[in-house]
Amino acid sequence: MLVCIPNVLDAAQLVSLRERLERANEAWVDGRVTAGYQGAPVKFNQQVDERSDVAHACQRIVVSAIERNPTFISAVLPNVVYPPMFNRYSQDMKFGAHVDGSVRIHPRDGRKLRTDVSATLFLTNPGDYDGGELQIEDTYGRQSIKLAAGDMVVYPATSLHQVAPITRGVRTACFFWVQSLIRDDGQRALLYEMDGAIQRLNQTGADEQARRSLIGSYHNLVRQWSET
Ligand code: NI
Repeated sequence: MLVCIPNVLDAAQLVSLRERLERANEAWVDGRVTAGYQGAPVKFNQQVDERSDVAHACQRIVVSAIERNPTFISAVLPNVVYPPMFNRYSQDMKFGAHVDGSVRIHPRDGRKLRTDVSATLFLTNPGDYDGGELQIEDTYGRQSIKLAAGDMVVYPATSLHQVAPITRGVRTACFFWVQSLIRDDGQRALLYEMDGAIQRLNQTGADEQARRSLIGSYHNLVRQWSET
């Protein structure tokens, strides 16, 4: 399931992030430092050293935003969020087709995190660069994603994906992975759909007994399917 989530960051948060990233200078390193054997030969971009102070400050802004975003919570059902990372692509940079690594080591506490969901949060307005689409192969074919600054896409980490070459400007983005409470993408999709229906029934004041029963079923499915 691929979900685009609008307005994850507001204008003030975007300005704050962009200023920090523009001033980061020496914290920008070759993106291949974190690529695995599959990604390294096709990865041509830069990213902020995840141990740097600027990375930590930017991570706090993004994490506090996603933790408060009801669509993110509903679609991803996060268990552990890998600290967000920041990358940029300038002229001719790209990231060829790859699947993200299945396991990552959490940089702070060393625990292993299974990557169930991949996320890209766009930080540059689409009008400021050409190319740079995030192209994701999903069940229904290739999706080409290029969102407004502050919007985010979440998709199964099992998907083959790539970032098309930049032909003008610079594309800056935030990306991260999540270990979900629900490992299976199909089960997550069902729960997301069910939660959406419950929210709409809540808003329209539908039959209370039926709503209670549906909410109960939702939680009982999460209880049955989740792992922590
Ligand atoms: Ni990737």
